[in-house]
Amino acid sequence: MNAIEIRDLSKQFGSKQAVNNLNMTVPEGAIYGFIGENGSGKSTTEKMICGLLVPNDGSIRLFGKDYRDDTTRSKIGVLIEAPGCFPNLSVWNNMMIQAANLDIKNPEREIAKVLKTVRMEGAASNKFKNCSLGMKQRIGIAMALLGRPRLLVLDEPINGLDADGMRIMREVLTDVTQKHDCTVLISSHILGELEKIATHYGIIRGGRMIAQMTAKQLEDSCRTYIALRVKEKDKARRLLTSAYAQVKEDESDAIRVYDDAMPEEIVSLLYDNSVIVSEIKKAKVGLEEYYTDLMAEREERRA
Ligand SMILES: Nc1ncnc2c1ncn2[C@@H]1O[C@H](COP(=O)(O)OP(=O)(O)OP(=O)(O)O)[C@@H](O)[C@H]1O
Ligand SMILES: [Mg+2]
Repeated sequence: MNAIEIRDLSKQFGSKQAVNNLNMTVPEGAIYGFIGENGSGKSTTEKMICGLLVPNDGSIRLFGKDYRDDTTRSKIGVLIEAPGCFPNLSVWNNMMIQAANLDIKNPEREIAKVLKTVRMEGAASNKFKNCSLGMKQRIGIAMALLGRPRLLVLDEPINGLDADGMRIMREVLTDVTQKHDCTVLISSHILGELEKIATHYGIIRGGRMIAQMTAKQLEDSCRTYIALRVKEKDKARRLLTSAYAQVKEDESDAIRVYDDAMPEEIVSLLYDNSVIVSEIKKAKVGLEEYYTDLMAEREERRA
């Protein structure tokens, strides 16, 4: 069954078409990375899924039922923007308030469980205001998990986190899907991080879904290339450009050859012309480059 099935969803704010005939399918158990430039309609879509905004048109089905169905509604956990917490209260007391709001039975046991899931069991007595950004984001996730949701909707939960915060968040989200049987919809601009956990992707542009794929499909569709380092870069570039169609320099100053070339051919071509290769490896384009290329392609088509 699909956790989310959206058909022809539209939302207008005045004359602004924020979401435009959007289609989206999120299979149960997925970590679905929702990607798109600023203002493309990610948060608006997420708010409609959670019932925080009313669509102008289209349908949203969650676990096979209309999104307004009461039993479905109670199965969604949300973290959009910062969690609504009292700064001077402890993490534990904030959780107790949320548990009371949700009418949770056995609140102590449930809170202990979700705090453990988000790796916050040692910080329950900390005042919320003294928690780091990464901790606050995880408290938000713990709160969203309190009602034992089947779907968690997270709007940019990894923004501003340091490497350690990102690592913990990756572990938490993997646990949430695997141990809590929860599907996760997560929007983020940090594609390198998203790529480490997402099982599915949706790319939105101007309110429309322009590509949806599984992580495996992304990997299969991404081009391979050979990256190499040499001392005489200009000369190497000239030689490679005359032999191969697609040669460019990357941000780390390595030369990339995208054609279906063999590393030994490249080394031998350069060696025969007295250019010594100090490093060479075969690699694959990742999500970041796939996304940048897709956006550039769309831009060209529009021009
Ligand atoms: N309440 C609102 N009133 C008017 N316009 C809005 C409102 N909310 C969003 N918009 C507009 O709708 C469009 C989509 O906004 P949205 O916040 O969904 O984008 P986003 O993809 O989440 O962007 P970001 O990556 O910056 O978070 C934008 O042009 C935005 O200005
Ligand atoms: Mg947003």
